[in-house]
This record gives sequence, structure tokens and C-alpha cells, in this order.
Amino acid sequence: MNTKNTKKRGLWAIITPVNSYIRWAMVISALSGILSVIGFVFLAYVIGLVMGGTINLFGFELGFKEALILLASITILSFLTKFYSFVISHLGAFKLEQILRTDITTHLAQIPLGHIITLGTGAIKKVLLDDVKNLHAFVADTTPMLAKAIVAPLASMVALFVIDYRLGLVAIAILLVGAVLMKFVMKDSVSHRENYEQSQSEINKAVIEFVQAMPVVRTFDDGTTSFKRYNDALAKYRTNLKAWFGSTSTPAKIAMTVLSPMPTLLAVTIMGLFFLMNGTLEFAPFIAALLVSTGMADALMPLMWMSNFVKKSSAAAIRIQEIMDIPVLYNSNTHKKIQNTNILFKNVDFKYNEKDNYALKNINFEVKANTVTALVGPSGAGKSTVAKLIPRFWDVTSGSIKIGGIDIKDIDSQTLMDTVSFVFQDTFLFNDTLSNNIKMANENATDKDMIEACKAAQIHDFILSLPNGYETMAGDRGTNLSGGQKQRITIARAILRNTPIVVLDEATAFADPENEEEIIKALANLMKNKTVIVIAHRLSTIKDVDQIIVFDNAEVQEKGKHQELLTIQNGIYAKLWSNYEKAQNWDIHHIGGIK
Ligand SMILES: Nc1ncnc2c1ncn2[C@@H]1O[C@H](COP(=O)(O)OP(=O)(O)OP(=O)(O)O)[C@@H](O)[C@H]1O
Ligand SMILES: [Mg+2]
Repeated sequence: MNTKNTKKRGLWAIITPVNSYIRWAMVISALSGILSVIGFVFLAYVIGLVMGGTINLFGFELGFKEALILLASITILSFLTKFYSFVISHLGAFKLEQILRTDITTHLAQIPLGHIITLGTGAIKKVLLDDVKNLHAFVADTTPMLAKAIVAPLASMVALFVIDYRLGLVAIAILLVGAVLMKFVMKDSVSHRENYEQSQSEINKAVIEFVQAMPVVRTFDDGTTSFKRYNDALAKYRTNLKAWFGSTSTPAKIAMTVLSPMPTLLAVTIMGLFFLMNGTLEFAPFIAALLVSTGMADALMPLMWMSNFVKKSSAAAIRIQEIMDIPVLYNSNTHKKIQNTNILFKNVDFKYNEKDNYALKNINFEVKANTVTALVGPSGAGKSTVAKLIPRFWDVTSGSIKIGGIDIKDIDSQTLMDTVSFVFQDTFLFNDTLSNNIKMANENATDKDMIEACKAAQIHDFILSLPNGYETMAGDRGTNLSGGQKQRITIARAILRNTPIVVLDEATAFADPENEEEIIKALANLMKNKTVIVIAHRLSTIKDVDQIIVFDNAEVQEKGKHQELLTIQNGIYAKLWSNYEKAQNWDIHHIGGIK
């Protein structure tokens, strides 16, 4: 079963895939509760037999020995059923965890990538770790206990009333008082905040890597292989966290266990002794009443903290369902073949969210195959948004984007991935060797291909200068390399992919001029014989491109070649260009002045 198709909301809806486990665990746990009550009552009568005599049970006369064997059997059976119910619930919990993880990651791999970026590390982390873990714990521990917590007190109450209705009334009165008291005790059960937060932040690191990697992963494969690696890391952290959780909840449990059966026991003892002395109660029923009432209060306890836990788990379930509700990218089954790599934007409107303003309004332009088009404009104009629509990070709100005359929604995702590569504004490297980081772009690439690509990307010499060459680890999130070096590695990846269309969202700033020069060379190599859309921040690099499209306020304002655009009176491009030149000159004079 798939949680994706679950229309119902909330905790009980999300655990339906493992309903059969839960039902069995609950039934067996309830049975164990009833058996333990029967065991307590029977124990009292067996104690009575120490003085001699027999018990008449449904017409059978039982001596001490037979009664003892029967008692032992009931006790063992009660334990076995309890154990078995937990085995079943844990099996269900593991299965649920697996189903949820698979469903969520599969779903994340199918929704527009833009959503993942906007959801952010925080939300995805919460869902994949905390929320799934929470539901695991709910199914594993809470469901069997819930059944027992409801059935055992009821069975105890029935037993107590059968033994002596007066003691039954006493127990009910005390329980009501006890329940009110417990509400206060529950208030400060959360004391290990600090530790919890620290372990949280450790997990954060892994997850941030996971989420940041997603754009890279999604550009290169459908997610299955690369996701596994992150899933494994997450699972490891989860296990650690679970162990930690287990150890801290014990003192809380002990405190509560000590606290609650006491009053009931005390009241039943005092009243029982009173009835015993005035001759209205026998010894064996008295003992039975004591045992049963203790068990009753004990069994009621979990209900208190469970309500808290159920609330938390419900919130977790809802967060998971919210992610599962994000519609997947529309995928047509037409599998149309792309004839050429012309790119056409036709009347494209786009909003990130329904309530937002348009990020793009009525965008029309064409990029002819094997030409270079530059997108320029002020920050926030919509350039990156245009770029992200081409590999379908988001789908257009209206209008259409065509490659080779075919709507990109009608191109199957693998073909689209094989057609378009994307170099991001932010680069991301896995915590792996440089060689693996580069080769992930193309699983068929040989070492020779990789080295060729790195040479073209102007990064080969640098890599060779490292102590371990291509086997050097990229370090945590690639922090061992400068921004420019990282970017050249990303360019090497793109060269290795060798797709006919390249979308470049250039970084706004480069680390240093030396890097900049090399990056320009690297990009030139990447762009050779390709259809290119480049978002350029340094206008000098795009003077010679085939077409410049100027964006402002979500719209295309100007279109043409460098020289044409400069002739527009009060044109945006002309203004950008003159500012750019001034900045360059300022730089030269400034440096000259220092000399
Ligand atoms: N994920 C997002 N969710 C909502 N709004 C967004 C998102 N990304 C961008 N926007 C908005 O869309 C508009 C266009 O942003 P975009 O990133 O395309 O600008 P840009 O031209 O690339 O700017 P820059 O030169 O700074 O990179 C902006 O108003 C921005 O705030
Ligand atoms: Mg941008």
C-alpha cells in the first residue's frame, strides 16, 4: 500500500499500511492484560491454599500443587503474550518506517525540485528523521500499550467488583484523584532539552548535506542510487538518537510508576483491613483485591503520558502527509523524440506560489540551436527563474516551453536530463573523492574522459597538485576547495555530461581574478558547439554572444545583440553597460592609484 493514496488525514490514516500488525499487537496485548489480572486474582487464592484446603474451579477441585501449576501457566502465558505483542508491533514499526522512508524519498524525487529547495533543510530534516522516528515509536511501543492500558484497568475493575464491590468503589474514587494529580506531574517531564538539541544539530549536518545535494543528484540521476547513501546516513543517526531516547525516558517512567499505584493500594488496604476485621471480607479475596488494584493503577499510568505522545505523533503524521500532498511533476507518456535543440518560451507566466506576484510575466523568446543567449538584468528580475524552468525545477503557470518543438512536459524526464545540464549559482560537492564527485555526472565515463573534462575545465593541474590527486576527499561539503575551484569542478561535471543544452547560472562573485580567468576559459570550453543560456553578471564576457535578453520586473524588456542594445535611448542594457564600464574603470584607476 502507498501512503500517497491515503485520502484520510492524521495518525491512524498514515499507519494503515501496517494495520494488520497493529491490530494483532493490540489484541494480543489486551489478552496479556486480561491474563495478568486473572493471574493476580488466582495468586491470592493460591496463597490462601498454603493453609490447606482446595479451590473449586468450574467444578474441578484443585489442590495446592495443581493450583500452583495453573498459576504458573497463566503467568507465563501472560508474559509470552506481552512479549509477542511487542514483537509484532516492532515488526510493524520497522515495516512502516521502511514504507514511509521509501514513499517520502520517492515522492521527493518526483515533485518539482524547486519545492525541495523552498521547503528547506529544516522541514525535510524534520520529516525524514524526527517524524518518521516518531511514528516508528508510536507503532512499536504505544499501540500495544494503548490496548493494555485500556483493557487491563477495565478487567481489573470488573475483577475488583466481583471480589468485593465496596473495594471497587474505593479504587474508583482514588483513581479519579490520582488522574488529576498525574496531570500536574506530567508537566515537567521534558528535562533533557540540552542534550537533545546537541544531538539534533549533529543530525542537521548530515541532512543539510542531503538536501543541498538534491539539486545535483536530481540533475544527474533519478535519485535512487544517490538517495540511498543519504538514507543510510540518516538511518545511522536515527539509531543513535533512539538509543539516547531510550535511556532518558527510564527515570521518568520509574518516577511515575512509584507515584501512582500507591494511593490506590493504601486506600484498598485500609478499607480491606477494616472489612476483614469486621468480618465482612475473607482473607483470600482481600489479597486478591490488593493485587488487582495495584495492577489497575499501574496499567492506567501509561494512558497519561500516551496522550502526550499521541499528540506528537499526530503532528508528525500531518507533516508527512503535507509533503506527500505536493503534486508530482506531470509526466507525459508520449516520449516524443527531440529533433533539435531550439528552445522556445511562449507566453510563459510563472508564480512560485499562488499568493505571490508573478516572477515571470508573458515571457517570449527563442534560442536557436547551437547559439549562445545571455540573460541579464537587475537582481530579482527573474533570470534564475527562467533558467530553472528549463530543467523543470518548476513547471510554468501558463504558457509553454518547447525544446526542438516539443513541450518539455511531453519529454520524458530521463531524456530531458540527458538534454539539459545546469551549472548552479551555488556549487555542491559530496563528501567523497574528487574523482567520484566528477564521475557521478556520467556513469559511463572512463578515467581518461574525466581527465579530459578536467583539463577543459582548467582544474586538472590543480587536482594533480593535491597530495592524493583525484583521490583527494572533497571534505565536508567541499570546504577544502575555494569557490572558484569548486565551480570549475562543477563545470568539469557538466563537460563530462556533454548534453546538447547547457544552462549556466554564473556565480555573482568569484574568489579572485586568477580564478575568474580560468573559469572564463572553462566556460568557453563547456559552451563549445552547444545551445547555451547563460546568466552573466560580468557583462564583458557576453559582448559577443548571439543574443542578449534583458529582464526587469519579471518581464523581457529588451532583446538583441550587444551593439544593438547599446543604441537604445535610455535602455536598461545601455545603463547596465555604462555602470559596468564605470566600475571596471574605477577598478583600474583605483589600482593604478595605489601603485
Ligand atoms: N523559491 C522561491 N520562492 C518564491 N519566490 C522566489 C523563489 N525564488 C525566487 N523568487 C522570487 O522570484 C523573483 C525572481 O527571482 P530570481 O531568482 O529569478 O532573480 P534573478 O534575476 O536570478 O536575481 P539574481 O541576479 O539576484 O540572481 C524574485 O522576486 C524572487 O524573490
Ligand atoms: Mg539568480
